[in-house]
Amino acid sequence: MAKILVTGGAGYIGSHTVYFLRKSGHSVIVADNLSRGDRANVPEGILRVVDLRDTAKLASILREEQCEAVIHFAAYIAVGESTKAPELYFANNVGGSTSLFEAMQQAGVNKLVFSSTAAAYGNPQRVPITEDQPIAPINPYGDSKVMVERMIELLDQYRGFHSIRLRYFNACGAEPEAGLGERHDPETHLIPLVLRAVLTGKPVTVFGEDYDTPDGTCVRDYIHVSDLAQAHINAVEHLLNGGAGGAFNVGTGVGHSVREVLSAVEKVTGRKAPYISGPRREGDPPRLVADSQKLQNTLGWKPVRADLERIVADAWEFAQRHGA
Ligand SMILES: NC(=O)c1ccc[n+]([C@@H]2O[C@H](COP(=O)([O-])OP(=O)(O)OC[C@H]3O[C@@H](n4cnc5c(N)ncnc54)[C@H](O)[C@@H]3O)[C@@H](O)[C@H]2O)c1
Repeated sequence: MAKILVTGGAGYIGSHTVYFLRKSGHSVIVADNLSRGDRANVPEGILRVVDLRDTAKLASILREEQCEAVIHFAAYIAVGESTKAPELYFANNVGGSTSLFEAMQQAGVNKLVFSSTAAAYGNPQRVPITEDQPIAPINPYGDSKVMVERMIELLDQYRGFHSIRLRYFNACGAEPEAGLGERHDPETHLIPLVLRAVLTGKPVTVFGEDYDTPDGTCVRDYIHVSDLAQAHINAVEHLLNGGAGGAFNVGTGVGHSVREVLSAVEKVTGRKAPYISGPRREGDPPRLVADSQKLQNTLGWKPVRADLERIVADAWEFAQRHGA
């Protein structure tokens, strides 16, 4: 069992990963500045409120807590915001990561799991997407993640880091029994937005219904946050056992359209999901579905909560407890 620093552990995916890391017997310290996370997501005693850009403080936390590895979630994640203020994304996501990697070197920690994204592929040439497809982000958020990925590859090559970059597709769902779920502010993700529409009666917007997909709406690969958390545990344990690093997609391999999500929500909640039709959003590819065979074959990971209704049911339970 290892001691692991989790950056961004007060956020959505980080908090679920902390929960499952502790359940598997690992010790965890969370480093989060709470800019977009919630203190209540972190168990008593393990939160260190620190900005990623405070290199000295991060280095002393890593040393004092004798951390053996880092799982790095902390970042800004809103694509729309990144197009309005790209500099914010480079300062926080790239600048923050540079500082963290410097702190890791100062503290002699060289094992790293990094949250990357399907946005790295932009408009993919082929679907399902394999890791060898061109890296071609189409918004500043995606660019900021790709820059960090490249930095990590070079640290692996020249600085003795051992790193795994996980490229997630659409994280969703919740772990209601742990009191954890998705609550971004502002929320931009489909499932919590549709559930909010059900709870408030205010319609959600469906952006584009004339795509070249079976029902005209965009198709995405929805990966349950708890399956995603498990991928991080497999990844960090693989590195701690001396395994090789690299980039891995994390998805289910199955795509669901926006309309299918609306239907699943109506089935699970037994209520109407009000929506209005809007125009296509710039830079929204019709279909994004992961090929995650590499992850499954190398790290022995498998999605076990992939059923869309199961995902929606978990998110619904959380939304009912925590309100719209
Ligand atoms: N949510 C998704 O569907 C998705 C998909 C692909 C990739 N990702 C990646 O996963 C990671 C986590 O996403 P999430 O949905 O949990 O986001 P989130 O906003 O819920 O969590 C991010 C956390 O990082 C913290 N943070 C941000 N900047 C910081 C800084 N400078 N110093 C310290 N803490 C800081 C925030 O306070 C927050 O708690 C991100 O790196 C994101 O790029 C998310």
